[in-house]
Amino acid sequence: MTLKRLFIQNLRNLEGVDITPSLQVNLIYGENGSGKTSVLEAINLLALGRSFRSHKHKPLINHQQSSFTVFGRVHTDDESDVPIGISRHMDGEASFKANGVLVPSAADLAAYLPVQVINSDTFLLLEGSPKVRRQFIDWLVFHVEPNFFPAWKAIQRCLKHRNSLLRRDRIDPFELAPWDKELVDLTNKIHEFRTQCMAHFNETFAVLLKEFINIDGIALGYYRGWDKDKAYTDVLADSLERDKRQGYTHAGSHRADLKITVNGLDAAEVLSRGQQKLLVCALKIAQGYVFTRITGRKSIYLVDDLPAELDEKHRALLVHWLDTMNTQVFITGVDSETLLSSWRDKTKITPKMFHVEQGRVTEVVNSSVIAQ
Ligand SMILES: Nc1ncnc2c1ncn2[C@@H]1O[C@H](COP(=O)(O)OP(=O)(O)OP(=O)(O)O)[C@@H](O)[C@H]1O
Ligand SMILES: [Mg+2]
Repeated sequence: MTLKRLFIQNLRNLEGVDITPSLQVNLIYGENGSGKTSVLEAINLLALGRSFRSHKHKPLINHQQSSFTVFGRVHTDDESDVPIGISRHMDGEASFKANGVLVPSAADLAAYLPVQVINSDTFLLLEGSPKVRRQFIDWLVFHVEPNFFPAWKAIQRCLKHRNSLLRRDRIDPFELAPWDKELVDLTNKIHEFRTQCMAHFNETFAVLLKEFINIDGIALGYYRGWDKDKAYTDVLADSLERDKRQGYTHAGSHRADLKITVNGLDAAEVLSRGQQKLLVCALKIAQGYVFTRITGRKSIYLVDDLPAELDEKHRALLVHWLDTMNTQVFITGVDSETLLSSWRDKTKITPKMFHVEQGRVTEVVNSSVIAQ
């Protein structure tokens, strides 16, 4: 998958952007506040329907306008072109389009544009909440297993119903039983999907870990969300009284996590900030590799402010692996020379350069501006 064309209207300070990215490497530079991260945010919106910076839609819409639109032309791995688009209005109304027709949700766009983001928030993967790591696992599961998302949606619905029953003063066991049965079936299904993906992932991650951070004793474990020695149906029965007291379902696939440890201790508490970043880079690159190995497709990498996040040596390492993956990347930074030097001499690829200035994005060739 590659993004052949990107059109942005009224997203933050980007009032009208129309660019034709390189299918390989795109370097986006400009002063602080010029709009670089917003360009990546636009691609992320197209891919996932949501921003990586805000859960709200209003901050995304240009202050002078009442809606934003992002449109992209995706070149798929079977060599066809698919136009996809998203727009959001002040009043919250959202519309998603793929191939010229409205689709119900952002999830319907997600399959067209598998995107990996590396930014300062990504580096909090280790110390953030389990939800962040669950989303990390589920990115892969979503993209490789078509039955995962329907099961995931169904389990959210099921948990909502079960939790509302748990909060009643009196619970009729006959009313709870069908929800429990459905919950057990879906939970086991989701756990099975995740287990299969994690087996592939662990293999690749072990190789990349040695490249990025060669420290003994690093282990990656998948926690399913309940005691691994017990059947989920027994766990539900055992925790019923507690679930009732607190009004929610304690154990289950909605509590899954990745446990990353160094000699048995939490990696976030042992590794230096720099080592944590390298570990996260290894996780992110492994994710893309496994995705490609299983599906034969490629994901797009968005790397925000690369020079600010990694020193020169480790920048070169990340660039080396992105280059080896031969996938489309968008990388931002304040200084063009620093960005360019990360690629020059290290790869055979000539990146496309884009300069961002007060919300205007222009392609630069041999230091001359050729397009708006
Ligand atoms: N809703 C909005 N309408 C108009 N402008 C906005 C809106 N939201 C943010 N901005 C402005 O848009 C600009 C884009 O910010 P962005 O984070 O993309 O810049 P950046 O180039 O990544 O900067 P930095 O190098 O500091 O990370 C900022 O100047 C910000 O103040
Ligand atoms: Mg930025």
